[in-house]
Amino acid sequence: MAYENIRLEQEGAVATLFIDRPKALNALNSKTLQEMEAALKSIGQDVRVLIVTGGGEKAFVAGADIAEMAALTETQAQEFGALGHRVMAMLEELPIPTIAAVNGFALGGGCELALACDIIYASEKAKLGLPEVGLGVIPGFGGTQRLTRAVGRARAKELIFTGERIDAAKAKEIGLVLEVLAPEALLPHCRDVAAKMLKNGPLAIAKAKRVIEAGADQDLRVANEMERKTFGELFGSADQREGMKAFLEKRPATFTGK
Ligand code: CAA
Repeated sequence: MAYENIRLEQEGAVATLFIDRPKALNALNSKTLQEMEAALKSIGQDVRVLIVTGGGEKAFVAGADIAEMAALTETQAQEFGALGHRVMAMLEELPIPTIAAVNGFALGGGCELALACDIIYASEKAKLGLPEVGLGVIPGFGGTQRLTRAVGRARAKELIFTGERIDAAKAKEIGLVLEVLAPEALLPHCRDVAAKMLKNGPLAIAKAKRVIEAGADQDLRVANEMERKTFGELFGSADQREGMKAFLEKRPATFTGK
């Protein structure tokens, strides 16, 4: 499918979603969000890892589009926020690992996009932050909640109240970013990590993701009960039989995701 502001490329079982509107530093306007929604819906079962990154040299995503938002009424802003939340939730709920490759500015909606991915790796050039209060609003695509869950309340409040942009090293120090790479090493690193994931059982990864995500919002006993149930259920899968048989036969497993 032809998109104007994004590109979805696939190499083997790894897809890469480029937010690609460099003239506005990849800012998320409605059209871009709608294209992302369509692209995420189109991801087939042959895709087993998704990398999300920014097109061009400077930005991952420099936020929601301020030019579009400036004139929104309250009702329109509710709708715009709902669209953003829907896209972030779709990303979070994909049954495959998602990796944000933060190659430049990841501000506001861009930082929120990275936070909706399972793992964030950043280039040494990256700058991250939630500067919305400087525009008289608050983060609107899940930032108040996902950043708080990622780095804790005090750090999230510090970043949101100051609107400060932090560099990749600081983002790693506070646990927002997992690793910092040289710019040219960022995508290769993401692909190397993806390749390690591809060796494992896709159904098990999907279930692990679901239990981690759903469990994070629950009390420990309820969350562990989810894990117990899911662990047991996987023994009805072809992947469990193959994975354990392959181990005992001292050969690599061939998983089918069933
Ligand atoms: N929305 C719309 N356009 C944007 C944009 C954004 N978020 N960020 C950058 N652009 C545009 C600029 O307006 C500029 O366009 P023109 O060339 O037509 O003037 C172009 O991208 C290049 O940007 P700059 O000239 O500003 O580049 P710079 O290198 O001097 O600065 C920057 C880079 C620090 C990232 C700066 O562009 C900036 O501060 N951008 C806004 C960041 C921001 O506040 N993001 C949060 C948005 S609110 C939000 O996201 C709400 C939410 O949670 C849903």
